[in-house]
Amino acid sequence: MVQLTLPKNSKVGKGNRVEAVPEGAKSTKTFRVYRYDPDTGENPRWDEYVIGMDEIRPMVLDAMIHIKDEVDSTLAFRRSCREGVCGSCAFNINGRNTLACTTGWDEYGDTIQISPLPHQPVIKDLVSDLSNFYAQYAQIEPWLHTTTPEPQKEWKQSPEDREKLDGMYECILCACCSTSCPSYWWNGERFMGPAALLAANRWIEDSRDEATGERLDALHDPFRLYRCHTIMNCAQVCPKDLNPAKAIANIKKKMVERSV
Ligand code: SF4
Ligand code: SF4
Ligand code: FES
Repeated sequence: MVQLTLPKNSKVGKGNRVEAVPEGAKSTKTFRVYRYDPDTGENPRWDEYVIGMDEIRPMVLDAMIHIKDEVDSTLAFRRSCREGVCGSCAFNINGRNTLACTTGWDEYGDTIQISPLPHQPVIKDLVSDLSNFYAQYAQIEPWLHTTTPEPQKEWKQSPEDREKLDGMYECILCACCSTSCPSYWWNGERFMGPAALLAANRWIEDSRDEATGERLDALHDPFRLYRCHTIMNCAQVCPKDLNPAKAIANIKKKMVERSV
């Protein structure tokens, strides 16, 4: 029989509320944060932290670090560069995937809700398990494939050929795009998702790569490439302003070109 209700342990309950506002604080915000520890066997919950914002630096990540350092050291989340470069601080903030280190807390109202990237298993709190996402990236073999003997110095490109990689090489693999893509939610094991396909297109378009045919063969499958239905969530959320949907359309075009 079809199950019409969510499994019991998927319901997110009400959690703790901690008020940590220094005396005389002029401004405060409430951070509503998803908490989950699979080791406890308990359901996930929303914890609320009310903090004074006067001394907090401008980004959502600054507030999260403040909460972890000063209010609740048990909160788990990934971060590293604090400069929008490493891609590790991607979360769903007030319903939209983005990087906490490049998003200002003043862009939101009094309450800021933070949950892990959608539709990925959760390791703990805001730490998603991105094993499948990274495996798909590895699957597109993100390095130069050549048969020509290596040159003595560098592989040269014309400025025009180099320019073709703009809008693709900048990807920081934050997974904001793939985890906002409905096709990826439902077919994440078989559809490569926008990030891996953007990366595939980066190597297909590289004038020095000599494996375009093999790369296209590897994607010629009803699920790997063709589950993209041009919904465009990926391009809307990318914190680096990249357009994976355009890259996917380019791969589809290459597929057609080689078949005529
Ligand atoms: S355009 Fe394609 S890859 Fe991007 S969100 Fe839509 S279905 Fe997913
Ligand atoms: S394309 Fe953008 S959203 Fe997707 S992984 Fe790369 S940087 Fe992140
Ligand atoms: S901490 Fe590196 S991108 Fe945010």
